[in-house]
Amino acid sequence: MRHPLNHPNLPLFQYQIREIVDVAHKLQQLDPTLQIEWENIGDPIAKGWQVPPFLKEAIIQEVQKRGDKVFGYAHSRGIVSAREWVVSESKKQCADSQLTVEDVLFTNGLGSAISALYHMLPRGVRVIQPTPAYPAHASTESFNAGKPPILYNLDPNNGWQPDIVHLEQQLQNNSEIVGILVVNPNNPTGAVYSREILLQIVDLAERYQTFIISDEVYYRMVYNETEFVQITELAAGRVPVIVMRGMSKDVPWPGGRSSWLEFHGAELDSDFADYAKGLKKRVTMEVCATSLPQYILSTVYTHPDFPIWIREYNRELESNGNMISEILSSVKELIVNRTNGAFYMMPLFREGVLTDRQTLPIANEEVREFIEKEVSVPGFTLDKRFTYYLLASTGICVVPASGFNSPYPGFRLTTLERNNEKRQQIYSRLKDAIEKYLQS
Ligand SMILES: Cc1ncc(COP(=O)(O)O)c(C=O)c1O
Repeated sequence: MRHPLNHPNLPLFQYQIREIVDVAHKLQQLDPTLQIEWENIGDPIAKGWQVPPFLKEAIIQEVQKRGDKVFGYAHSRGIVSAREWVVSESKKQCADSQLTVEDVLFTNGLGSAISALYHMLPRGVRVIQPTPAYPAHASTESFNAGKPPILYNLDPNNGWQPDIVHLEQQLQNNSEIVGILVVNPNNPTGAVYSREILLQIVDLAERYQTFIISDEVYYRMVYNETEFVQITELAAGRVPVIVMRGMSKDVPWPGGRSSWLEFHGAELDSDFADYAKGLKKRVTMEVCATSLPQYILSTVYTHPDFPIWIREYNRELESNGNMISEILSSVKELIVNRTNGAFYMMPLFREGVLTDRQTLPIANEEVREFIEKEVSVPGFTLDKRFTYYLLASTGICVVPASGFNSPYPGFRLTTLERNNEKRQQIYSRLKDAIEKYLQS
């Protein structure tokens, strides 16, 4: 007899960053003249950034120097020299760091680390997620728990810093929470957290005996005179922290699939140490993480051109983000927080300005029929409705805030568009479309 093969937790898996891409491709099939502006993409390479030459040189030299070894498996937790480099960096960033090579675990991108992190939590315990949230964390955590995510608010009226009062309420009301996820610099808001806020999170973690997961994949990408504060420094000797870092965004080498976890403060809590041990075992089942990026990790990050590259990259992202926030801030129905890190922004619609009757003109009849049918599905959120009309009417592709578990309607855009004129034109069109939609 056949057994059902539909996983009961599937509805908890949400990844609208990709869903909107499927819709855009469908619209292009219906109307091949529709030109899509991909303002949803978090991949610098896809947005036309060139890989710095020193990365390509490092790859070529490594293959020539080491020969076929770089094509083989690596140590299942990561090659020792790469882990040693991670340890030495960590000690530079936090003088009290107790990290050893045994506390570093390489994974196939942080995507694979995210799967492992939540998979290895014992049944019944939870990691509280920020909202709005990068959906891979919240979806994977709730899929494994078989329940909706437990969320704490990021506050759009306080530069998207975490709402500490709400976080504490949630910790009080949900004793199953064993960990707090922090994404800093943040996807989707572009916020970078202050020392004071991070200290308050560490205080709460200590008081409620939780560990912290700090996703820092964007930690080198901070600008607008904002400081990146090392949470390991604040938590040292007090709270265990899993730091998540990798090569996807800053080098940038997203296709390299090379990232790592650092287990800080495992000596502080035997339960956390057991969890870390379980995670290492789980990752070992993947045999090893991609080996070539690990071989060249320290060469790339210590290359004399790397600081020049990252300075230029940040300078351009700062200028792009500031231009976009200036254009969108002039729409009085939007709340816009400028981007200070990573390459995302999440403008919000003020309360009550969206309705389920607003539309934008769509020239192609088939496209219009498709969109009207899609948005009429019961439960279709108002911000998703806006992004569908925007896409069909202008070709501009952004992701609805509700796709990030956001309690507030809005949308997420990326600030990666390099061409000044094109960016100016896209965001002026976006501004006009918002005004037209709200007045329709
Ligand atoms: C906050 C955050 N964490 C993790 C990831 C996944 O990165 P990776 O390419 O290492 O899988 C992303 C990708 O966009 C991200 O934004």
